Amino acid sequence: MTVTIVGSQLGDEGKGGVVDLYGDAADVVARYQGGDNAGHTVVDDGEKYKLSLVPSGAVRGKVGVLGNGCVVNPETLFDEIDTLRERGLDPDVRVAERAHVILPYHRALDGIEEEEKEDLAAGTTKRGIGPTYEDKAGRRGVRIGDLLDPEVLRERLEYVVPQKKALAEDVFGKETGEEFDVDHLYDTYREYGERLAEEDMTVDCGTFLQDHIDDGDNVMLEGAQGTSLDIDHGVYPYVTSSNPTSGGATVGTGLGPTVVGQGEVVGIVKAYLSRVGTGPLPTELGGVEDQTPDYEDESGAGEAEEELATYIRDEGGEYGTVTGRPRRVGWLDMPMLRHAARANGFTGLAINHIDVLAGLDEVKVGHSYEFDGEEIFTMPPTTEQWGRCEATFRTFDGWPEVDWSEVAAEGYEAVPENARTYLEYVSDELDTPIYAIGVGPGREETVIVENPYESP
Ligand code: GDP
Ligand code: IMO
Ligand code: MG
Repeated sequence: MTVTIVGSQLGDEGKGGVVDLYGDAADVVARYQGGDNAGHTVVDDGEKYKLSLVPSGAVRGKVGVLGNGCVVNPETLFDEIDTLRERGLDPDVRVAERAHVILPYHRALDGIEEEEKEDLAAGTTKRGIGPTYEDKAGRRGVRIGDLLDPEVLRERLEYVVPQKKALAEDVFGKETGEEFDVDHLYDTYREYGERLAEEDMTVDCGTFLQDHIDDGDNVMLEGAQGTSLDIDHGVYPYVTSSNPTSGGATVGTGLGPTVVGQGEVVGIVKAYLSRVGTGPLPTELGGVEDQTPDYEDESGAGEAEEELATYIRDEGGEYGTVTGRPRRVGWLDMPMLRHAARANGFTGLAINHIDVLAGLDEVKVGHSYEFDGEEIFTMPPTTEQWGRCEATFRTFDGWPEVDWSEVAAEGYEAVPENARTYLEYVSDELDTPIYAIGVGPGREETVIVENPYESP
């Protein structure tokens, strides 16, 4: 069967940790979208791994696949594999021949466009994600399979690179270097192609995964980013360029929707909200320079709110895994989660970071929005409308700091009562059972309520 792991908010909900948690029962872990914009953390016996392309199952020695829906930068992929090998792991990573390749001009153009966009900039990771998906949709992309075929690679580059160079130079007025040079790109990317072939890394993803499923293996589908960063269902244009939602797990792997739909879809929820990047955020606490829109700054977060934001940011280590930027933080946003539960069809929830909120007198939740004088319970479809929403809060009594490892060992009943009230509220509102509760970054710091591979 398959278990699909999906971020339900704005990324960094702790997906890597949950993939690792349930990964023991999986034989293969496949990413279905995104690229090295992701940063997934796995903490194994105090040893911390931050993975951007290698699927998180690698820490447990599981076969990893980068599906056709991914965009792959071979340079960062090989760097990551080499670094993990130096640390004693032996990652077995396969890459879909249909996946698209991030080339140096994509990264360059990502940076150039971000500068140009000003208020429309999403605050991207500048990994070239958007420009690569643009070329995929524009049918001028280079695919992993093309790296194995010298003639095709040269033909593709000769068509596309002059256009990209003209875009950078003539439209944006930038000087260009070897990242826009056909010969240089051809030589470099042929070498990557040779290494992919030598290490026998390329696969027809859908067939590869289906064969495993037919053999009775368990497959885990590891989403990157989160539902509100989805190009279709997120807060456009402050989104990424792929579909982190569960539908992406079928298109991005080549497994049918009936196959993925027979499995489980676990929504990963952070017990509060955090985001790196721009755009509105109705439950935001305080603000972060260069990321919080001006009109939200002006709403005048009080000093107490700023202090609380700093407290949660520091307790939760809310600094971007990829870029190190301070993340914006806010209270849990239930309209955002209701939207995610519907768009993904969650069968279970993993709610992380309840330890971060421990010790606060009270914990708030944005229960609904006030939108143009009306109370609404889910996200409106345009980001401009979302920006006009004001959160209506519910207040919960806080829970104490406790020995969370002990709680994890003892199970759900050991979770402080007020935290259980909070968790059960979320579960009831989303009409979805809780499968796991994160009480710390380590594998052992999780209260396991249900293992989706064992559910009836
Ligand atoms: P991902 O992108 O969704 O995989 O999440 P990230 O790895 O980018 O960010 C999550 C961060 O929170 C990582 O540093 C994790 O080790 C950490 N983390 C995950 N779950 C928990 C939890 O329940 N409590 C605490 N305190 N940290 C957690
Ligand atoms: P994981 O998988 C958090 C954000 C960026 C930016 C927007 C677009 O670790 O949860 P992109 O580089 O994708 O074009 O940037 O999306 N973003 C993430 N935020 N976690 C991520 O991944 C993210 N990947 C992209 O900050 O706002
Ligand atoms: Mg992350």
